[in-house]
Amino acid sequence: MSQATEQPALEAATSGSVARPAGLFRALERGFARAQSALAALTPDELNPLLHLGAAANTTLMISAASGILLLFFYVPAVDQAYESVLGPMAGFLRTLHRYSSDACMLLVLLHLLKTFAAARFAGARWVAWFTGVGLLVTLWLDGWLGYWMLWDEGGAQTAMMSAAMVDALGLFSTPLSRGFAAHSLLNSLLFFVVFFCHIAIPLLLAAGIWLHLLRISKPRLLTNRPLTLVLLASLCAVSLMFPAPARGEADLARVTAEYALDPWYQAPLLLYGRVGEGLLWLAFAAGTLGLVAVPWLFSRRRRAPAKVDSSRCMGCEQCVKDCPFGANSMVAFEGRRVSRIDPAKCVGCGICIGSCSPAAIVLPELPLEVLRRRIDHWFSSPSSDQLAFVCRESAALAPHSVTAEGRHPELPGVRVIEVPCAGLVHPELVQRAQRRGAARVVVAACGADP
Ligand code: HEM
Ligand code: SF4
Ligand code: SF4
Repeated sequence: MSQATEQPALEAATSGSVARPAGLFRALERGFARAQSALAALTPDELNPLLHLGAAANTTLMISAASGILLLFFYVPAVDQAYESVLGPMAGFLRTLHRYSSDACMLLVLLHLLKTFAAARFAGARWVAWFTGVGLLVTLWLDGWLGYWMLWDEGGAQTAMMSAAMVDALGLFSTPLSRGFAAHSLLNSLLFFVVFFCHIAIPLLLAAGIWLHLLRISKPRLLTNRPLTLVLLASLCAVSLMFPAPARGEADLARVTAEYALDPWYQAPLLLYGRVGEGLLWLAFAAGTLGLVAVPWLFSRRRRAPAKVDSSRCMGCEQCVKDCPFGANSMVAFEGRRVSRIDPAKCVGCGICIGSCSPAAIVLPELPLEVLRRRIDHWFSSPSSDQLAFVCRESAALAPHSVTAEGRHPELPGVRVIEVPCAGLVHPELVQRAQRRGAARVVVAACGADP
C-alpha cells in the first residue's frame, strides 16, 4: 500500500471518533486528569477515589444500607414516636453514619457521572450503562428524599409537605394529599408507614438497577479494594462521631421556623420550592432527566465498524473472549476446530481484542494492523531520536485535531503520535517493531481508570 493510500485510512480511523463538541470533552477530561494527578501526589492509586468512583459509590451505598439496617433496631416508624426514637447516642451515631454515607454516595455518583461524560464513555454498547445509570441516579435521589421524612423533624416535615404538593399538582388523587398535612392531628400514620416502607424497599430496586448497569461490562469492579473500603468506612465513622447530624426539633406543622439545615444533595429542591411553582419544578425535573437520558444520542460520535476475526489465522486460544469488555467475542465451531467469532451488534470497535491476539487474527476495518506497521516502517526507516506514542483517542487528553498526518503534535516535540481507539489495541508486535526500527522509546498512553 502506498503512503498516499494508507494516510486516509489512518485519518479515517482517528478523526470523527471523538464525541462532539470535542473542545468541551477535552477540557472536562483535562480537568479530571489534573485533579487525579494532584490527588496522586498525596495518595497511592489504590486509595485515590477519583480512580475508583463507580466502585466507591457502591461501597458507600453498602455502608448506608448497613447503617440503615442497624438503625431499624431503634427507629419506630410512627409519626408521634419517630423523632424521639433516634435521639439516643447509638441511634444518633447510626443515623449520622447513614446520612453521611448516603451524601458521600450521591457525591461519588455525580463525580462518576461527570467523569464518564468527560471521557465520552456513553456511546456504543455503553448506552445501557448510561441509561441505567440515569435510572440509578433518580432512584438514589428519591430514596434520600424520602429518607428525610423518616426523622420527622422540621426539615422532614417540609420535605413531606413539598412532596404532597408536587404529587397534588399532577392531579392524581381526588382528595389532595396536602390536606393531610394541614394540622398534626390530621397526619395519616398509614401514609407515613407507606413512605417508610418505600424508603427501605427502594434499595432493592437500586440493587436490581446496579445489576442491569453492569450487565454489559464483563469485569466490573463492583466494590472498592480492601484498603479503600477501610478508609471510606473509617472516615465516615470519624466524621459521624465528630459532627453528629443535627436534629432540630420534632416537626410541628403549625410552626415553620426555616432555621433547619438542608441537605445539599437530597433536599436541594426545597430551596427552589416557594420561589418557582410546582409546574416549573416538574418541568425542570423532566427536562433534566430526559436531557441526561439523551446524552448518548446528543453527543454521539461516528460508530466504529465492528472488528472481524480471520478464522484461518485463529488458533482458538480464547484470549479475546476473556479480554473483550463487552462480551462480544465467543467461540464457535469452524471446519472441525473452535475459533473466535465477534457479534457485530455487541462490538463497539474498541480494538482491545486486537492487542490480545498473538497471531494477529483480528482486524479492525478502520485501523488495520497493516496500516500501522507501514506507518511505523515509514517513520522509523532510518535511525531516529524520535519516540513513538500510542495515545488512546478516547481518554488521553490531547488538544483536538492537532496530531498531523505525520504524527506530530505541538505539545509533544520529538514524538510521533498514533491515536488509537483504545490503548488495549496496541499489539505487542507493533511495540517490538518500532523498537527494532530504532524508535528511541515507545509509550502507550492509556486511561487505566475506573469511571
Ligand atoms: C448508584 C449509582 C451508581 C453506581 C453504584 C455505579 C457503579 C458503577 C460501577 C461499579 C461501574 C463499573 C466500573 C468498572 O469496573 O469499570 C460503572 C460503570 C459505568 N457507569 Fe455507573 N454507577 C452509578 C451511577 C451511574 C450514573 C448516574 C451514570 C451516568 C448517567 C453512570 C454511568 C456509567 C457508565 C457509562 C459506565 C460504564 C463505563 C465504561 O464502560 O467504561 N453510572 N458504574
Ligand atoms: S473490538 Fe474486540 S474487544 Fe472491542 S468490543 Fe469489539 S470484540 Fe470486544
Ligand atoms: S485471541 Fe486470536 S487466536 Fe485467540 S481465540 Fe481470539 S482470535 Fe483466536
